[in-house]
Amino acid sequence: MHSLGITLLLFNLFFFTSSFSNFNIKNKEILAQKPKFESKKLIESFRKKGRITNGFIANNGSNFLPFFTLLYVRKVTNIYNMCAGSIISEKFLISAGHCFESSAEVFILAGFNNSNLESYTFFDQVASKNVIVHPSYNSTTISNDIALIKFSQNIIFNLVLQKIKLPLTNSNFMNKSGIVSGFGIFSDVNATTSNVLRYTFVTVINGSTCNLSYGSNFFSNDRQLCIDTKSGHSSTCSGDSGASLGIFENNILTLAGIVSYGSTQGCELGNPEVYTKVSSYLQWIGNKTGIVVL
Ligand SMILES: *[C@@H]1O[C@H](CO)[C@@H](O)[C@H](O)[C@H]1NC(C)=O
Ligand SMILES: *[C@@H]1O[C@H](CO)[C@@H](O)[C@H](O)[C@H]1NC(C)=O
Ligand SMILES: *[C@@H]1O[C@H](CO)[C@@H](O)[C@H](O)[C@H]1NC(C)=O
Ligand SMILES: *[C@@H]1O[C@H](CO)[C@@H](O)[C@H](O)[C@H]1NC(C)=O
Ligand SMILES: *[C@@H]1O[C@H](CO)[C@@H](O)[C@H](O)[C@H]1NC(C)=O
Ligand SMILES: *[C@@H]1O[C@H](CO)[C@@H](O)[C@H](O)[C@H]1NC(C)=O
Ligand SMILES: *[C@@H]1O[C@H](CO)[C@@H](O)[C@H](O)[C@H]1NC(C)=O
Ligand SMILES: *[C@@H]1O[C@H](CO)[C@@H](O)[C@H](O)[C@H]1NC(C)=O
Repeated sequence: MHSLGITLLLFNLFFFTSSFSNFNIKNKEILAQKPKFESKKLIESFRKKGRITNGFIANNGSNFLPFFTLLYVRKVTNIYNMCAGSIISEKFLISAGHCFESSAEVFILAGFNNSNLESYTFFDQVASKNVIVHPSYNSTTISNDIALIKFSQNIIFNLVLQKIKLPLTNSNFMNKSGIVSGFGIFSDVNATTSNVLRYTFVTVINGSTCNLSYGSNFFSNDRQLCIDTKSGHSSTCSGDSGASLGIFENNILTLAGIVSYGSTQGCELGNPEVYTKVSSYLQWIGNKTGIVVL
């Protein structure tokens, strides 16, 4: 028997006003996170890249995570979900399937010029016909929790707007740590979303831990990553669904996973979380987007 209930990591914005010039998310607090693991390597890699392509210098007129997108999903009921996504080509971003149940349209914010919510430089608004949820997505088991969104027109990459590389087939990233980021809530007891893009570092662990926690009806080692949230002392939480787990593969930051679900007990107890394993969906992604997958 498994011990934990599952909870999706999206955030319902019941009182959202839909006025994008007028965000009213008041939280000014920045969590003092102490990233470990590969943070140095990541920052160095962006610095290095900066020297080559004229300046990925974090936080001033640049973007630490230029593939990150913030998504407000308007449902047919006019309730909004807040999710995240990642740009994978000029035409497509990738996110979690569960973010788009009964969606009517999606507002996409990207190209953050620094870590502030208001600093986005790219905006797009697409109807649900631009959303491709995986045909085998199952809202009961949250399996195949992956979706693609086609931009309304090709985007033009710049310093603050870039794509993230897809993984190689069969990459499982076992024991690797990487970066995950979002504007989601930062406490179980305070459901205020952040207006600062925050990031943390998490580690992929053996799926038997998630199998034990969530049960084999929910967790599949073949198509999901089991994520340890203890080592980074922080985790993804509501509002972070669909965000990427970026891990270095051949020295390039790579889209290893997509934030899917955590435990009903909350985000702060160190329970493992489950992310969609992107390397298991490369054929589907390639088919739908025309991206050459390896
Ligand atoms: C939640 O956090 C915000 C920002 O720090 C603060 O203003 C608010 O009072 C907090 N709410 C609760 C219930 O603690
Ligand atoms: C950002 O860079 C500009 C131009 O180099 C500089 O004038 C400004 O002080 C910098 N701002 C911060 C917050 O570092
Ligand atoms: C980002 O901010 C920098 C420095 O403030 C500014 O020079 C640049 O034009 C901004 N980029 C965009 C795309 O708005
Ligand atoms: C979703 O999974 C459950 C449990 O395996 C199954 O009973 C149900 O038929 C599935 N739903 C769809 C739409 O496939
Ligand atoms: C992952 O780490 C565990 C525990 O340290 C170790 O037993 C296992 O061999 C490692 N697996 C891989 C694929 O690195
Ligand atoms: C996970 O752990 C189990 C049991 O210890 C082991 O049989 C299996 O090979 C491990 N899987 C990976 C991918 O390391
Ligand atoms: C998952 O747990 C079940 C028991 O709940 C067990 O039968 C199954 O072998 C486990 N699968 C893996 C991949 O560990
Ligand atoms: C890719 O698309 C072709 C043509 O629609 C289809 O026959 C094939 O099954 C698809 N493959 C995958 C993995 O989705």
